[in-house]
Amino acid sequence: MNQTLICTIPANINTYEIVIQHAGLSQQLAYFKSLHAKCAIITDDNLVLLYGEPLCQALKESEVEAHLFSFPAGEASKTRATKEQLEDQLFAKGLGRDTCILALGGGVVTDITGYLAATYCRGVPLVMLPTSLLAMVDASLGGKTGVNVTAGKNLLGCIYQPQRVIIDTSTLQSLPKKELTNGIVEMLKHGIITNTSYFEFLEQHAHELLALDPHTLKTAIFESCRIKNEIVEQDEKEQGKRHLLNFGHTVGHTLETLTHYSLSHGEAVAIGMLVESKLAVLLGHLTQDSFERIYQVLMAYHLPLQLPCQFSIHTLLEAMSMDKKSLKGRPRFVIINGIGSALPCESLYCMHVEEAVLKTALDWMNNALCCH
Ligand SMILES: NC(=O)c1ccc[n+]([C@@H]2O[C@H](COP(=O)([O-])OP(=O)(O)OC[C@H]3O[C@@H](n4cnc5c(N)ncnc54)[C@H](O)[C@@H]3O)[C@@H](O)[C@H]2O)c1
Ligand SMILES: [Zn+2]
Repeated sequence: MNQTLICTIPANINTYEIVIQHAGLSQQLAYFKSLHAKCAIITDDNLVLLYGEPLCQALKESEVEAHLFSFPAGEASKTRATKEQLEDQLFAKGLGRDTCILALGGGVVTDITGYLAATYCRGVPLVMLPTSLLAMVDASLGGKTGVNVTAGKNLLGCIYQPQRVIIDTSTLQSLPKKELTNGIVEMLKHGIITNTSYFEFLEQHAHELLALDPHTLKTAIFESCRIKNEIVEQDEKEQGKRHLLNFGHTVGHTLETLTHYSLSHGEAVAIGMLVESKLAVLLGHLTQDSFERIYQVLMAYHLPLQLPCQFSIHTLLEAMSMDKKSLKGRPRFVIINGIGSALPCESLYCMHVEEAVLKTALDWMNNALCCH
């Protein structure tokens, strides 16, 4: 049975469906046919043979005009240059406003393709077909699209909502295990910031989830999508509640930058969630027991929780001041006040923390999590 969620963004009266299935992407042929559009599938070169070709073939057999485009896999491709090359390839095929763009892949594909769809012929319909767990529970939802530039990650882009998100969990069978953890960390984050019973579900089903049990996957992905949607529906433009989704990311992004990305996003955010939970303990909002539970669940999902080296507090604070939530050069943090809730902080859902407290949490990180 497919599960379906409806996402309604009030600001632009846009409603789209998120369909979660485990049956192969061709199950959606009737939907693609109903679009009465040419389909341009955009994917990366790891996925072109695995999922791109079969989908393109199936569409053609259903008498839908379909074209397949791909670019080299990886973050290094998330650039203006790749977007431009793809656009020229689409124009060369004569694709115009009667085209629907299908973003088939991980977050790199969904981000760049979403941005392309938003600007191609001033905006054409977009369908997200996420294939990594991170893209399923995070990148394909909420409408953020974009590319990286020399000045920083995701600095160029826009918010553009898709027509539909189709999550086929069977594609996760081919996802490298280390990529899986990037998605799992975001799912844990969803539980920690808003939903105790979802956190408990993830606590109790680590084994099944890591083994990609289809039923557990569907239940967990559905709940994560529901939580992210609920937050985005209330704050599409990240002016308040959407800040919640940055829990663990103020410290996480800093660690990604300082380790030159030797820590994956998931590994860095896992450590970030611990440090930001520690802040909540130090500020008297979180019990030590809840902190331990967060630590344990990250261990249960085999997160390494190890820093490659210690960082000077000065370097950490300086890098953190560049965070997008910073105000006047001072970082702000999402502070949880239990597993499943965070301090609203006058509806901003993030706050400044005294430097002495921050230093104590960072000292803890250096001492407890450094492997040298
Ligand atoms: N727009 C948003 O709201 C948002 C949110 C979170 C992350 N992101 C972005 O997402 C990107 C990271 O996404 P990601 O972790 O999916 O990275 P990715 O797209 O690079 O995918 C990771 C790797 O897995 C491969 N892959 C994906 N699905 C596969 C499958 N089913 N089988 C085999 N291989 C598969 C890809 O080819 C790639 O090599 C970053 O650029 C980040 O900025 C965006
Ligand atoms: Zn993240």
